[in-house]
Amino acid sequence: MSTATSTAPVRGAPPPGARRRRIGVGVIGFGWLGQAHSRSLLRIPTLFENRSFDPQLIACSDALPARVEQATGSFSFKRASVDWRAVIDDPDVEAVFIAAPNMLHVQLVEAAAQAGKAVFCEKPVGGTPEQVVRAAQAARRAGVRSGVGYNYRWAPLVQYARELIANGELGEITNYRGRFFSMYGADPLGVNSWRFQLDQAGYGATSDLLSHAVDLAHMLLGPIIRVSGTLETFIRERPAPGDGASHYGRGRPEDPRTPVTNEDYAAMLCEFASGARGTFEVSRTLVGPESENAFDVYGTRGAVGWNLERLNELRLYRATEDRGSGYTTVLGGDRFGHHGVFVPGSGNAIAFEDLVTIEDYEFCSAVAEGRAFEPGFEQALAWAQVQAALLRSARSGCWEEVRS
Ligand SMILES: NC(=O)c1ccc[n+]([C@@H]2O[C@H](COP(=O)([O-])OP(=O)(O)OC[C@H]3O[C@@H](n4cnc5c(N)ncnc54)[C@H](O)[C@@H]3O)[C@@H](O)[C@H]2O)c1
Repeated sequence: MSTATSTAPVRGAPPPGARRRRIGVGVIGFGWLGQAHSRSLLRIPTLFENRSFDPQLIACSDALPARVEQATGSFSFKRASVDWRAVIDDPDVEAVFIAAPNMLHVQLVEAAAQAGKAVFCEKPVGGTPEQVVRAAQAARRAGVRSGVGYNYRWAPLVQYARELIANGELGEITNYRGRFFSMYGADPLGVNSWRFQLDQAGYGATSDLLSHAVDLAHMLLGPIIRVSGTLETFIRERPAPGDGASHYGRGRPEDPRTPVTNEDYAAMLCEFASGARGTFEVSRTLVGPESENAFDVYGTRGAVGWNLERLNELRLYRATEDRGSGYTTVLGGDRFGHHGVFVPGSGNAIAFEDLVTIEDYEFCSAVAEGRAFEPGFEQALAWAQVQAALLRSARSGCWEEVRS
């Protein structure tokens, strides 16, 4: 039990007297996630007293001039432009954060890696499995540190679930159920933004949603080795988008329609290398669940379940000699991971962007301290291999092996 007088070193703390290392950051793509990372980097010094680095927002790029203006005017970037090469070429930028549409990821990763920069890329690191392979090769060849925005890993209660499984407290894990049901595309008047376009997003619900669900499963249970799956596009036309339209934007009934060119839905049966069996289902058009990014893990001695819609709760069942505990609810609090950095005590909630802040803190700590970081591009590649097998299965109608 730790006490106030403990002399144990704080994880990630610089040695006494050491100076914090400055990390110059560049951000490419300044929409939802580009801004979320930038806000997170700005507030890290106010939250993590024992950090080994100080992030500095140096250069930003977005295709929209209004966002370029916002980067310097409201976020204190020193420089911003519509030219992403200026971010990568900037000598003061040590780490590049990529939050542009998926089909741009691979060329940005390749350019940043060739320039010797650490690269944090939003998931899925490319719009197709082939692009993820290229991105991973580029980082490996250049020997640069990589990170991927699988931010749900960093929920303190998800980390607690990982501990329970790894410590054997749930017994042998036999079954896994993963799903991500988001309603962002459920309204047929939702605009045809880049996420619905094969040439800008690459694949649809698999790249956008299933990548998160499978990443969590990989972290909790280990590799998936065989899959059988199906895909569908339920809403085949949508109102044309305006500049910078978000996937949450709405058109009008009289707007011209353009075709949707990637999938709305995917389902997959799978086998894990451990022998456990799993099911996955994701949709962006289902009506009802609004952001149900969830998993249930079942073992011979217990079970856990988590759902993003209830980010601060973990459902836990412990098998006992008599009647079992029944599902109980574990509330988030400062006894779990970095939760206490944001709010003290238990039952006081943290939120989506706090997970982005934790991942940015962990990534920059790894860069400053010369440590490996997970999830990096090797973990993105593990997802891409599952995606490739699912795409083959949807075509063949058969079970397909996950090939490395
Ligand atoms: N980890 C998560 O939970 C999460 C959530 C949302 C999005 N994402 C990922 O983040 C990335 C961005 O998604 P978003 O929702 O922020 O999208 P967004 O549409 O809000 O932002 C994308 C931005 O990229 C800009 N852009 C387009 N072309 C560009 C270019 N050539 N150079 C520079 N900027 C350019 C756009 O103008 C826009 O501002 C995607 O890869 C997505 O998968 C991850």
